[in-house]
Amino acid sequence: MVFEHGPEHYYVVWETSCPAVGSSLEWWLDDVPGSGSSMLRHFVKAQYKMVDKSHHRYSAIIGPAGHATKVHYTSNSLGKSTPLYSIARRNETELTRVLVIADNQNGPTEFRRVLTSIQSHYGSSSVPDAILHVGDAIQDVHKLSDWQNQLFSPLEDGGGYQHRSPTVFVPGNHDHDKARVPGNGNVYTDMYHGILTTDGLRDPAVTNGTYHRFYHTTSLGSARIIVLDSECPSAEQSEFLERELQSTAFQSAKFRIVAVHIPPYIEFWSPYAWNEKGQKHWGEQVRLEYDALFRRHNVDLVVSGHQHNYQRGTVQRNPQSADPADTITYAIVGGAGGELDLERVESWNMYNVTYLGHHFVSLEVDSRQLRWLAKNKAGSIIDQFNIVY
Ligand SMILES: [Fe+2]
Repeated sequence: MVFEHGPEHYYVVWETSCPAVGSSLEWWLDDVPGSGSSMLRHFVKAQYKMVDKSHHRYSAIIGPAGHATKVHYTSNSLGKSTPLYSIARRNETELTRVLVIADNQNGPTEFRRVLTSIQSHYGSSSVPDAILHVGDAIQDVHKLSDWQNQLFSPLEDGGGYQHRSPTVFVPGNHDHDKARVPGNGNVYTDMYHGILTTDGLRDPAVTNGTYHRFYHTTSLGSARIIVLDSECPSAEQSEFLERELQSTAFQSAKFRIVAVHIPPYIEFWSPYAWNEKGQKHWGEQVRLEYDALFRRHNVDLVVSGHQHNYQRGTVQRNPQSADPADTITYAIVGGAGGELDLERVESWNMYNVTYLGHHFVSLEVDSRQLRWLAKNKAGSIIDQFNIVY
């Protein structure tokens, strides 16, 4: 599986059933502007982690990719190579197609149906340029069978996009172990540790006793995306968010997007868990602290999961403003397969569309507009809107 690792790098993870000393990743770029085709091959020694006696995990980082329009890679273990996979890299003027999903956790049968609909959407000869996964990819991070049955196998059978469409991974409450203990028990979710410093890219992905630090920024075509971890609020993340929102890269981007698992405005949940178990307070900092910053710093779109259905609302950033360009859209896309949330627990009077079924979203950006298209598992359109500046 390949993950986006900031604007210039990719993180590749693979596994064997017996230890493979000397595993490596080979990558190269082509269509490098100014220098034509650069076929210089890079060989990266893989980092190794034993998950258990029959699961041996390797990871390697590709990049920097500069302005190359394609990255090719293949990984090698025990003299055997994976197929050659190619990643298309779009610039700000090109059409960039992003598959948006969340909350396939514990629902592989429905996830497979959604993936069938996704394959019909893209057709057999094309793949999305990236996947934005807004969290809760598996139920229990400590169960290898959950990883296999709820994520890896459905993706493999459902088009195999995870090899060629880098995933922007937004951690959900089910996706990582928040404990500050050696190893953390996070067998696969360590892809963003150290991403905020260039030097850190060369470090081991996980240091014992540290959090996996998920929050970071990336670019997809003309969109700049801030990824937040709603599970681990911290002074560092708050500082990061303020800094990124004010950055030239974010403010000058054509479209400004925040992806965070827990939405600021939740309306559907289990009433018992919401009221009696205090789950209404999970991730409250997203609404109470972060949302005011989103509005103040011209965020166009906040994409979330967590609530297992679809909602989308477009409102004025500043309630006193009537400027049609001064709007922010909140979208909840938590319907890739997990059991649906059908019971209303709050009313924020802000959502234009509510759909209580499984679904996915096609997000497309180019130099002129952002197009959002939500479809259900039968392939019918359940919502669409465009942002044009
Ligand atoms: Fe979930």
